[in-house]
Amino acid sequence: MGKDVIIACDFASAEAVFSFLDQFKDEKPFVKIGMELFYAEGPAIVKEIKKRGHKIFLDLKLHDIPNTVKKSMAVLSRLDVDMTNLHAAGTKRMMEAAIEGLTRPDGTRPMLIAVTQLTSTDQESMENDLLIREPIDKVVMHYAHNAMEAGLDGVVCSPLEAGKVHDVCGKSFVTVTPGVRFADGDVGDQKRVMTPAEAKKIGSDYIVVGRPITAADDPVAAYRRCVAEFVD
Ligand code: C5P
Repeated sequence: MGKDVIIACDFASAEAVFSFLDQFKDEKPFVKIGMELFYAEGPAIVKEIKKRGHKIFLDLKLHDIPNTVKKSMAVLSRLDVDMTNLHAAGTKRMMEAAIEGLTRPDGTRPMLIAVTQLTSTDQESMENDLLIREPIDKVVMHYAHNAMEAGLDGVVCSPLEAGKVHDVCGKSFVTVTPGVRFADGDVGDQKRVMTPAEAKKIGSDYIVVGRPITAADDPVAAYRRCVAEFVD
């Protein structure tokens, strides 16, 4: 699995994302499009960014009945994205249906990654709001294992969990890890962070980096620094 840096393009409009991407003259970074940009601009934004030659992780985190997820995934696969995701909490049957929907007539499909427990959910909210009374790391690993059994390619997780996910689900099961910061950078609202170099050491396959690149004075230099630490 090729290691790569994915830039979280958390912008509110096509104009903002294109003025950001226009700064990249020599490389075509892998970009993550999330709900905000997708809901603002619709499928056209995916097609436009794809046309410019970028790989795309469409981060829409589907979670619904299996039939609805299957049909929605079929639509996303026609957008020719490279990676997309769903909530493992939707059950194994929902994840299997997602794979079916995502698979194109020629047998190819985008990578499919599961969200386990959101990092905004902690032990207390999981117990009180969701009535799940197991330790959160056990729940995360159980969901990751379900995703693997359903045929998914990997999970989104904290870089701190990536090593354990590989132990439980195997080396080829992909870990996509946000929460990355430079050693000398601002942590912002992220609580548990790692540098790109540490994420590489612990075995992350893809790092998702937003503000350390998008809010940098020189985003291209910040991107190159991530690539140098994580990939090269
Ligand atoms: O700006 P920053 O590097 O914190 O952006 C991280 C990106 O990864 C954001 O798009 C955020 O929504 C996403 N993400 C995250 N933590 C998760 C799942 C996704 O930070 N557990």
